[in-house]
Amino acid sequence: MRRTVVVTGASSGIGLAAAVALARAGDDVVLLGRDPRRLADAVSRVRDAGGRTPASYRADFSVLDEVRAAGAAIAAAYERIDVLANNAGQLTSVRRPTADGHDATMQINHLGGFLLTHLLLDRLQAAAKPQVPARIVTTSSLAEAWGTLDVDRPGRRQISRWLAYGASKQANILTTVEAARRWTGLGIVATCFFPGLIRSGFGRRSPAFSVARFAPGLFRSSEQGADTLVWLATDPDALVPGGHFAWRAPFPATGRSTDPARAQRLWRSSLAAVEQG
Ligand SMILES: NC(=O)c1ccc[n+]([C@@H]2O[C@H](COP(=O)([O-])OP(=O)(O)OC[C@H]3O[C@@H](n4cnc5c(N)ncnc54)[C@H](OP(=O)(O)O)[C@@H]3O)[C@@H](O)[C@H]2O)c1
Repeated sequence: MRRTVVVTGASSGIGLAAAVALARAGDDVVLLGRDPRRLADAVSRVRDAGGRTPASYRADFSVLDEVRAAGAAIAAAYERIDVLANNAGQLTSVRRPTADGHDATMQINHLGGFLLTHLLLDRLQAAAKPQVPARIVTTSSLAEAWGTLDVDRPGRRQISRWLAYGASKQANILTTVEAARRWTGLGIVATCFFPGLIRSGFGRRSPAFSVARFAPGLFRSSEQGADTLVWLATDPDALVPGGHFAWRAPFPATGRSTDPARAQRLWRSSLAAVEQG
């Protein structure tokens, strides 16, 4: 039976390259994106790679109701989900809080995926078999190293977009640590990875990042960035609950991003942040 793999941020860059590779390998890939035109292009690319038209869903993670609607639609369409790749993210320049009241970067890069994961949790559990766990793979970043995350108030406004980005990537790793503690026993293995510096749509509005993209040898392709995601989504050797990887190997993260007590506090405050009403 073919695996069902849900990829967020599938309309561009690392997510699209991963979706193409997974479809080519025979998985049924479900694409989640925001921009309708890029999402339609991604559907064509994945169809060309895998020979089947993938399902696609649209949601802007800066609006939690859109995440709820997409999560409900995906849950209704699939009884089992073998892999969820929480990859959507950006370096946003939006300074005002979202309509949900959270820092925009934190909501897009952490709270949106956190909510989606909970909406699809029973579908992941339904896919898990004793020898073949379901998987959650999250795209983190080296930027976690400078994150100033308040684990009790993750949606708190940040003073700069790079600090906000670093905090959101700390949240990605801490969430993986706590998901491993809570869900490995359910047959769901959560891991995360740093993709490297990747020439994608990321950071296009950042002057520093845009200039750095031209430095010889520093940046890699989206396909190279997707390689570890595909490996974590597929390989038996990649079933390391709570693991943080880069280039298919364990990769260190700061203590602030791996501390189990901080992970538990962030989990509780994130649940409160995505609760309705
Ligand atoms: N590129 C790097 O050097 C690098 C390094 C470390 C980590 N990362 C991480 O890698 C992940 C993928 O980024 P990328 O490099 O592939 O960049 P990208 O080409 O810009 O792709 C980002 C993806 O996330 C989606 N996205 C952005 N904002 C969203 C929102 N508000 N709601 C829903 N989806 C949204 C985008 O959708 P649209 O097509 O609608 O914009 C796109 O599909 C991100 O989590 C990023 O933080 C990237």
